[in-house]
Amino acid sequence: MKPDDFDAWMRQGQAEVEAALQAWVPADAPAGLGEAMRYGVLDGGKRLRPLLVLAASQATGGLPAAALRAAVAVELIHAYSLIHDDMPCMDNDVLRRGKPTVHVQFGQAQAMLAGDAMHTLAFEILTAPPERGAGCDGLAPPERGADFEIPAPLQARLCGLLARASGHAGMAGGQAIDLASVGLPLSEAALRDMHRRKTGALLLASVQMGAACGRCEPAAWRALADYGAAIGIAFQVVDDILDVTQESHTLGKTAGKDQDANKPTYVSVLGLQAARRHAAELRDQAHAALSRSGLADAAALALLADRVVERDN
Ligand code: IPE
Ligand code: IPE
Ligand code: MG
Ligand code: MG
Ligand code: MG
Repeated sequence: MKPDDFDAWMRQGQAEVEAALQAWVPADAPAGLGEAMRYGVLDGGKRLRPLLVLAASQATGGLPAAALRAAVAVELIHAYSLIHDDMPCMDNDVLRRGKPTVHVQFGQAQAMLAGDAMHTLAFEILTAPPERGAGCDGLAPPERGADFEIPAPLQARLCGLLARASGHAGMAGGQAIDLASVGLPLSEAALRDMHRRKTGALLLASVQMGAACGRCEPAAWRALADYGAAIGIAFQVVDDILDVTQESHTLGKTAGKDQDANKPTYVSVLGLQAARRHAAELRDQAHAALSRSGLADAAALALLADRVVERDN
């Protein structure tokens, strides 16, 4: 895939996900909740996790309608995790995706509820039949209609993958470790475990959910899991690096927060140069895993691994 084709592929995937989020995240949730939810998830972010879902689905010949729902569900979980991550009881951030954070804009209680509602909407989108919608009118954009049906066993599989990656074994557990680790000199192994849970699990699940939408031999599944695990850690290593190397206006969030908050990161534990080398090693591991997968159409996954490491926000 040429760089221009990849950029066009990404833009198309991002536009599909944006349109689905526009259609499915309810504006009319009560008492301003819909406004807070839409503010938190629409019109911002790199949409990396949804792109991983779509790329893994395409690589395995997946059902596009199922992959789109999975992509939206993962992004909803991610956006909810950011809303809660930014709250004063966690990282206390005022800027996210270039805008005031949800609690700054809508208050802490509404931010908490917006996150809660996005969390559950993700699973509703994976399971709701098109005619009923995901708690809002017209879940399926009109032009897509009944194509959105997902076979029940696949619904259950997608829910299981997403639940496991979001909860105590994944994101929420990792966030708990993050908060408990302030000021501690973590070993590299402990740091890796924290990053694997808080960030890596959802990236891995994105790849697995995409592959679950298609057909995948056990060996290819294992190789894709290795790919997802490697880019999952790499993503947070690079997030740690960008926190010290970039400006807030480039990141769309406040730079330099990790050191200010005394958080252990790959930069504080390994140093900047070693952290960069480690991110590149993980990218190479991801490429090697794709080669082992035997999948013919893994070009977008390979280029996404490069993007995870070579980014400036
Ligand atoms: C930021 O994720 C939070 C982490 C898990 C490191 P992203 O960098 O993917 O944030 P958006 O979605 O592009 O805003
Ligand atoms: C957040 O990690 C990971 C999540 C699960 C949201 P960070 O706290 O480093 O994310 P940023 O830097 O605020 O985006
Ligand atoms: Mg955090
Ligand atoms: Mg944070
Ligand atoms: Mg960070």
